[in-house]
Formats: sequence, structure tokens, C-alpha cells
Amino acid sequence: MTQGRTRGKTILLAGATGPIGRATAAQLAPGNTLLITGRNPDRLSELVADLESRGATDVVPLTIDLAETDAFQILFAQVQEHCGAVEILVNCSGGWQGHTPGDFLLKTHQELRQEIEANLVWPTLLSQGVLTGMVDRGSGRIVHVSSVAGAIGLIGHAAYSGAKAGVTGLVRQLAMEFGESGITANAVAPRPVDTPGPGACSRAGIPGWRQCSPGRRIISWPSPPRSRHSSSSWFPMWPGTSTARRSSSTGHGLQLMLG
Ligand SMILES: NC(=O)c1ccc[n+]([C@@H]2O[C@H](COP(=O)([O-])OP(=O)(O)OC[C@H]3O[C@@H](n4cnc5c(N)ncnc54)[C@H](OP(=O)(O)O)[C@@H]3O)[C@@H](O)[C@H]2O)c1
Repeated sequence: MTQGRTRGKTILLAGATGPIGRATAAQLAPGNTLLITGRNPDRLSELVADLESRGATDVVPLTIDLAETDAFQILFAQVQEHCGAVEILVNCSGGWQGHTPGDFLLKTHQELRQEIEANLVWPTLLSQGVLTGMVDRGSGRIVHVSSVAGAIGLIGHAAYSGAKAGVTGLVRQLAMEFGESGITANAVAPRPVDTPGPGACSRAGIPGWRQCSPGRRIISWPSPPRSRHSSSSWFPMWPGTSTARRSSSTGHGLQLMLG
């Protein structure tokens, strides 16, 4: 992303405390009102301090466990209290929920449900939560972080892959339903990023990961691809391609989705 292009907006960044969320927050915080979510107040406070040290002046931490009953009602009541309505939603929450890759047949129902809940139900409810205000205003931007797992699968993560594929369907549908209201919905679908979980799995060369990370190569974040503005798109991020190399320095993709 190129700093300085999105300014004066009210942005809800869900899942701000993970590696991808933190890197995204650093790009979005300056010049905007940025509401950041996560479960751990200490991690959120530390992130606020870090963002303020980089020039951010209006970062609001919202501590919330999205797995809790009524979490989304509570979250959007907090959002309403702090800023009224959200102009941009960027959703980096979800992930593996602490589950390592494993044999699908041995996964418990609870594990499978958790991955689907975090990676499809949360994006759905977050989208619904911001859309009312966006429709009233006649504009809005929604960006979810999906995964290449949703397009080509990921050994050891059947439920996660299915949920991420569902996010693509979600944004396509939202773009169709709300495009005329001036709202765009997009998903970005990274390959394994240099983070403790997926990054480590790629480096380890776990069987079946080759199609996700050829040569065990992982990507850094942010590295959105060059892309054109659209109301609904899936942006796979391939490391080592000319597209990914160029965009890793320009950060073209996400800014286009937000513009
Ligand atoms: N890392 C990769 O290689 C990769 C590749 C493709 C796509 N992705 C996707 O990119 C997104 C971010 O990835 P990441 O590696 O930064 O993930 P991560 O380290 O697992 O972070 C996930 C974020 O979601 C939040 N979260 C998790 N459970 C929560 C809960 N119950 N309630 C509230 N917040 C919760 C975490 O906050 P707290 O833990 O502080 O509560 C954190 O901010 C995920 O959707 C992931 O699936 C990642």
C-alpha cells in the first residue's frame, strides 16, 4: 500500500493484532480514524502506542472476543459510540484459530466449526454490521483477507479452505447487491505470508503445500498485487511473479480497493 492515499476516513480494522493486521494498521492509521479489534487489551495498547509513534493520532482499540455470544452486537455498539458509522471495513481476523494442519478425518467437530466460524461467519457478520451505515451514506469499502487456500485448497485445513472460498462468494454477492449504493466489496487472497504459522509450514515443505508456495517461498505483507479497481474481485498473490514483486513496493492493490 502506498501511504497517504486514504485520508480522513473512519476505518474498522478487525483482527489488527496479528502480523497481517499490524502491517495493515501501520498503513491505514496515519490521517484516518482507525478502530482496531482483538481479544487482548495489552496487545491492542501496544499496537496503539506503536501506531502513535509512527504519526497516528486517532486509533481506537476495541477489545472483543468475536467467538463470544453477542460479540457483534457489542462490537457495533462500541463502534457506534466511538464514531457513528464506518466508511471502510478491512477484515484481517480469522486465521487458523490455533489449530495446526491435520488429517481432516481426525479433526474434531469443534475445530472444524471454529475455522469456519472465524473465516466465514465473522466476515459475513462484520459486513452486515457496517453495511447499514454505508447504504445510508451511499458509499463504503469492504475488504476481507481471504486466502489462496480458498482457491486451490490447503492440505490439513479443509474447513479453513472452504470458509475462505466462501468469502469470495460473499464479496461477489455483496458487490452485486450493494454496488448500486456506492459500495465495493473485495477479497485479497494471499499465499502463505511470513508469519509464525503458515510461513513456518511453507518453509518446512509440508506435503501438499507446494501448490501454495512453490519452492517453499513465502511472501511478505503488505504485498498486494497490481490490480484494477472493481466492485468485487479475488486477488491471488503469487510470490516471485513480476506482479507481486512490483506491487510489494507500491502497495497498489489494497489502495485501489479502498479508493
Ligand atoms: N499468515 C498467512 O500466511 C495468511 C495467508 C493467507 C491468508 N491469511 C489470513 O489473513 C488474516 C490474518 O492472518 P494472520 O496470520 O495475521 O493471523 P493471526 O496471527 O491468526 O491473527 C488473526 C487476528 O484475528 C484476531 N482473532 C483471532 N481470534 C479472535 C477472536 N476469537 N476474537 C477476536 N479476534 C480474534 C487476532 O487477535 P487476538 O489474537 O489478538 O485476539 C488477530 O488480530 C487471517 O484471516 C488469515 O486467515 C493469512
